[in-house]
Amino acid sequence: MTHPHEPDPDRHAAGPGAATGHFIALEGGDGAGKSTQAALLGDWLESLGRTVLLTHEPGGTPVGQAIRQVLLHGEHVTPRAEALLFAADRGHHVETVIRPALARGVVVVTDRYMDSSIAYQGAGRDLAAEDVEHLSRWATQELLPDLTVVLDVSPDVGRARRGQVHDRLESEPDDFHAAVRRRFLDLAAREPARYLAVDAGRPADDIQLDIRRRVTALLDQGALS
Ligand code: TYD
Repeated sequence: MTHPHEPDPDRHAAGPGAATGHFIALEGGDGAGKSTQAALLGDWLESLGRTVLLTHEPGGTPVGQAIRQVLLHGEHVTPRAEALLFAADRGHHVETVIRPALARGVVVVTDRYMDSSIAYQGAGRDLAAEDVEHLSRWATQELLPDLTVVLDVSPDVGRARRGQVHDRLESEPDDFHAAVRRRFLDLAAREPARYLAVDAGRPADDIQLDIRRRVTALLDQGALS
């Protein structure tokens, strides 16, 4: 049993395909700038000679695209069905895309992962966060990121950056987004060894520098083990 604050040397070993790559998740509220940061991070990692896979949830696979359509652009979905659909998207994504890439030694950078479910469904909806977390852990056979970067942004800034078009989740009121934000920060505070929380109200280049510093430490750690 590994202490939650220590990196787990066997971190990808649970479930099929023990892995040698690195797994990084970008999380945060809507309009936090995750996709910009993922692209910058991917370019930088490639410039270091790493093979990188940029992916995202929901919808990182063909099956996931269909689930994404139902979740974000369809009719009302009940909270439990919503949690199950996000978990289904994630389970399929992990088994068909993420684990195989990790097994090939790739650095996988995903725009959203299970903390989005814990925050949006577990804090935003009237569901127990532990149940939502359990669902995702079951769906992914306990695949946890080596590093999760939480891009912290206020609901106001997030809304302004998103512009006029809002999907089903983005259309939720500010107190929903405030609860989501608090939960992301709580998750980061709970496990500082596996998380980096950054103020995402700053210029993109400054945020990226913080992320690169932390990812450098992660890659160096990998080189030693
Ligand atoms: P995302 O694709 O990041 O939004 P976009 O690309 O349109 O900016 O995420 C879509 C929405 O789904 C976003 O509001 C967050 C929400 N979401 C959840 O509620 N739970 C989850 O598990 C995930 C992955 C996303």
